[in-house]
Amino acid sequence: MQRKQIHPQGPEFSRMIAGVWKWMDEQTIEKCIHAALDCGITTFDHADIYGKYTIEELFGKVLKGNSDLRSKMELVTKCGIKLLTDNRPDHRIKHYDTSYEHIIASVDNSLQHFDTDYIDLLLIHRPDPLMNCEEVAEAFDELERSGKVLYFGVSNFTTTQFEMLQSYLSMPLVTNQVEVSLFKNDLLFNGLTDVMQVHRTGIMAWSPLGSGKFFDDTERMHHLSVLADKYKATVAQVLFAWLLQHPANVFPITGTTKPERIMEASKSLTIDLDKQDWFAMLKLVTGKDVA
Ligand SMILES: NC(=O)c1ccc[n+]([C@@H]2O[C@H](COP(=O)([O-])OP(=O)(O)OC[C@H]3O[C@@H](n4cnc5c(N)ncnc54)[C@H](OP(=O)(O)O)[C@@H]3O)[C@@H](O)[C@H]2O)c1
Repeated sequence: MQRKQIHPQGPEFSRMIAGVWKWMDEQTIEKCIHAALDCGITTFDHADIYGKYTIEELFGKVLKGNSDLRSKMELVTKCGIKLLTDNRPDHRIKHYDTSYEHIIASVDNSLQHFDTDYIDLLLIHRPDPLMNCEEVAEAFDELERSGKVLYFGVSNFTTTQFEMLQSYLSMPLVTNQVEVSLFKNDLLFNGLTDVMQVHRTGIMAWSPLGSGKFFDDTERMHHLSVLADKYKATVAQVLFAWLLQHPANVFPITGTTKPERIMEASKSLTIDLDKQDWFAMLKLVTGKDVA
């Protein structure tokens, strides 16, 4: 598995990342961690809210039971969303909180859940209309100084939101984690991937397979299967390869809960899509030739 720096001053991650959003129980988590590490996927994408605030802790239990695992992986987690759930009875409405206090408290919780003393990369999960950039900068400085977080980034930020926050920070935002795939390709054309390249900021791609929704679309799947056959690959692999081919330093986050599909994803890096096939895939979704 290729390893690559996500930013010139950022961490080196496995080019394919394992997303834990749907890893709902300890057994799945343990099986998927081992499958990922076995094929060289060492970077795991979390958020405090996954599983209604339960998955970090379940993942941490697996780490506690296998003391050598933590040193073999990079942990990414997020903060800033407050969910309406029985697990947080004080929340009256779903909202965002990017205050100094919440960022610090959320990281302390994550560290405790993972039973670790550092997070490799912390992301602000969503842009918050009430975000005070000075407070975020203060929190990031404090977390960096204490060694609790090594690197910082954002998720779902527009280019202007990204540049606004960056302008207040003493360290670079090393990623913007966004939804991008063959099926959700607007960011490749609306300037987001361009501006990220200006900053040399790699992109973590969430829902790289469109969250699996398009596997039931028989007509598109037929066309994609014909193309995949040409590369002796699966449809999922050519969908990952389509993203990996983009020059914006894209790190797809596979969301599968199945160890065999994690292995399958890891092999996508060997596929070198012909340029005309890349555009044929795009046309399959947009329905038209490029201008
Ligand atoms: N930052 C954000 O706001 C944000 C939002 C959403 C997600 N994320 C991150 O992105 C990760 C990935 O998101 P996602 O789950 O939507 O990603 P995805 O990889 O696009 O979709 C995974 C889904 O597709 C299904 N699937 C069907 N056929 C598949 C195949 N051949 N290979 C692989 N999967 C197949 C999987 O089912 P099986 O489990 O049965 O394989 C699973 O339900 C999450 O885990 C999370 O870490 C971040």
